[in-house]
Amino acid sequence: MKLGLRKVVFPVAGLGTRFLPATKVVPKELLPIVDRPLIQWAVDEAVAAGADTLIFVINRNKRAIADHFDVAYELEDTLVRREKHELLQVARSVLPAGVETVYVVQQQALGLGHAVLCARSVVGDDDFGVILPDDFIFDRNTPALAQMVQVQARVGGCVVAVEPVEPQLTSRYGIIDGKATEEQLIRVSSIVEKPKPEEAPSNLGVVGRYILPARVFELLAETTPGAGGEIQLTDAIAALIAEQPVHGYRFNGRRFDCGNKLGFVEATVAMALEDPDTAASLRQSLPGLLSAS
Ligand code: G1P
Repeated sequence: MKLGLRKVVFPVAGLGTRFLPATKVVPKELLPIVDRPLIQWAVDEAVAAGADTLIFVINRNKRAIADHFDVAYELEDTLVRREKHELLQVARSVLPAGVETVYVVQQQALGLGHAVLCARSVVGDDDFGVILPDDFIFDRNTPALAQMVQVQARVGGCVVAVEPVEPQLTSRYGIIDGKATEEQLIRVSSIVEKPKPEEAPSNLGVVGRYILPARVFELLAETTPGAGGEIQLTDAIAALIAEQPVHGYRFNGRRFDCGNKLGFVEATVAMALEDPDTAASLRQSLPGLLSAS
């Protein structure tokens, strides 16, 4: 049996209105950070954590995501005939051999908890991961979800990625309360979705990485609409706390909120500075761009 996290769910049914008109036709998750779509970075992170079954929760406007991970026969055939071996390799590298994709349709936008619940029959009884591709996390050594797999192997139960957020921005996040048990680990005693700053138990916000036990599906099925009138994953995790350990993990790496323009642009610049094709020239041109603005 393969160890590690085999199944990862990607809730990608959101509208992406903050990026209109770019997202009128193109799903937000296919917008590129340098030359890789946001969803590709998320998939690569899942695969690095051991996943071999990728479950995308989509809606009818997100079918292009399935096309991205499909074989592009005409493109590959042309590249073979032109002997463009490196490009062929790039085109084929979107999905490593042995990794399967499954698409589940969320018919109504009832919230993140509902989106995750849509994946229930595919996940079955295993622990599983959730990646929200908007939360782009970069670490040069070990991608965030793989770090969390190592943590979860030690402490069991549920592990969520957390980081300190601006105190005035707590109403954008799930916020945890709890006691630090290790330098990067907090045993969660409560979790609340999008509290106002004056009601937030801390400033530790959940960012889009979760390792969850299958039990969460039963809890989600009983969860009634919460913050914003939506079925919240946070509320099901709150119910889980009574039954099993829930930990917040302060990951290594830098997180960019690619759900908004600024975060997306920052991620693009940061990754262009990591990319050997662009890093040196960008370093040279950035000061000029800054002084011209
Ligand atoms: C979701 C979760 C929230 C979490 C956030 C991280 O909110 O509900 O708990 O902190 O993702 O990005 P959303 O951003 O979908 O409103």
